[in-house]
Amino acid sequence: MVEADWAPSKEDIVVVLTGAGVSAESGVPTFRGEGGLWRQFRAEDLATPQAFARDPTLVWEWYAWRRGLIAECEPNAGHRVLAEMESAFPRFLLVTQNVDGLHQRAGSRRVVELHGSIWRVRCVREGTVSEDSRVPLSEIPPRCECGALLRPDVVWFGEMLPEAALQRASEAAAACTVMLVVGTSAVVQPAASLPWMAKSHGARVIVVNPEATPLLDAADEVWLGPAGEVLPSLWQRWEENLGG
Ligand code: OAD
Repeated sequence: MVEADWAPSKEDIVVVLTGAGVSAESGVPTFRGEGGLWRQFRAEDLATPQAFARDPTLVWEWYAWRRGLIAECEPNAGHRVLAEMESAFPRFLLVTQNVDGLHQRAGSRRVVELHGSIWRVRCVREGTVSEDSRVPLSEIPPRCECGALLRPDVVWFGEMLPEAALQRASEAAAACTVMLVVGTSAVVQPAASLPWMAKSHGARVIVVNPEATPLLDAADEVWLGPAGEVLPSLWQRWEENLGG
């Protein structure tokens, strides 16, 4: 369903917020809904600091399994369109809740990762963060050179979001003139409040999702459909208006 024949200009400040749905067509499972990870697994057993303290091996086995799964996936047309968009708008930021790195693999560079990355590890003693794309890992749970445990550099339930990332995303949401929200159930805070923040500052909010979400109340424009199909159509319209 397309509600308006509207397209932005190069002067627009565009912020895109993505969730697991943008990677669904790449084969990465979402969290909620049919086939979602939180239908098969209990978050409190796998994605909390308490779970890691109790059983780091179990937690790492789950993350190692997800790494293996994501490593087999390729960015889809939706990721690619968002990477193209970045080069078309001088003022553009992609804010993602995803930890899979598929936006970067599709070519996106101006990316804020609100929930961290599954491709980084953090030493629980020193707090040092490093890239780690090993699949499979050589040991589970992996350890830092200092001997302490490494943890995935992702945000778990009950944890704060990385401060700099949240600040950048909030400032961008308040300043943007267009907020495009793709593939998120918009139920996890504080990410879910960013479109509302954008709206309250006068931005046009555009929602892409095959299903209804609480965000529909904030939306000026709704594209009901999968991101890999909808984003290329939306982008075609936008590009025509931008003058190729
Ligand atoms: P969810 O799994 O909650 O929601 C995925 C959304 O994507 C749903 O609204 C689907 O309707 C939609 N969707 C499914 N297929 C799609 C497609 N092909 N194109 C577009 N949309 C599609 O995922 P998130 O909203 O990302 O947090 O979840 C937010 C956070 O909750 C995650 O970052 C994760 C999770 O717990 C942490 O791990 C901290």
